Amino acid sequence: MNSPTKVKFGKVPLIFPIPIILAGALVRGKPNFETLGDVGIMGIKPPIIYISSGVNHYTNIGILEHETFSVNFPSTSLLTKTDYCGVVSGHKTDKSQLFDVFFGELRTAPMIEECPVNLECKVIKEFSILHRQIFIGDVVQAYVTKNFVTEREGRKQIMDMTKLDPIIYALDNRYYNIGEPIGVGYHESKKLHRED
Ligand SMILES: Cc1cc2nc3c(=O)[nH]c(=O)nc-3n(C[C@H](O)[C@H](O)[C@H](O)COP(=O)(O)O)c2cc1C
Repeated sequence: MNSPTKVKFGKVPLIFPIPIILAGALVRGKPNFETLGDVGIMGIKPPIIYISSGVNHYTNIGILEHETFSVNFPSTSLLTKTDYCGVVSGHKTDKSQLFDVFFGELRTAPMIEECPVNLECKVIKEFSILHRQIFIGDVVQAYVTKNFVTEREGRKQIMDMTKLDPIIYALDNRYYNIGEPIGVGYHESKKLHRED
């Protein structure tokens, strides 16, 4: 039976919201960053993530050369530069001076100082599918700007996710910011019994 309330929307990978990140690589000795929405967690322990980057992108050259890359989460204040990294290619334009860059343990994965969260990744698998190159990375270290870190019961925590102010994207081609927290994971379900 067809649903009377649903409209067929076509063959669209309508997964939303999408976090916007800047993937970083050292290409021919210089940092290069590209904007990506196609990024995700593949596992938490051990920490594995993936990025999906067009096969001809300049960033890929550096990732393949060093087998390392970074994932940087820009705040909304970096929206203009972030969009720029998504419309301009390192093949034609030098993007190495856009941000303050630092390096971590791997030495070849450039990270963006201005982004509150950075992941330093070592490639553990790479393959091409259709027009995309998929890089699966082991997160060797995560970096968080000091101002956003607090300690609770001896464990480091991010103070408040809303303060990181990440850029969110959706397939309506709009950027958004995040809203307020509305619940606690694995706990909200407890209310179900009370409401029965
Ligand atoms: C909002 C936004 C999201 C994007 N997401 C992706 C993506 O997930 N995968 C991809 O291959 N390109 C994506 N792009 C396009 C690349 O960022 C763009 O082609 C960039 O110029 C590649 O840079 P590079 O050649 O210096 O590596 C996105 C662009 C924008 C503006």
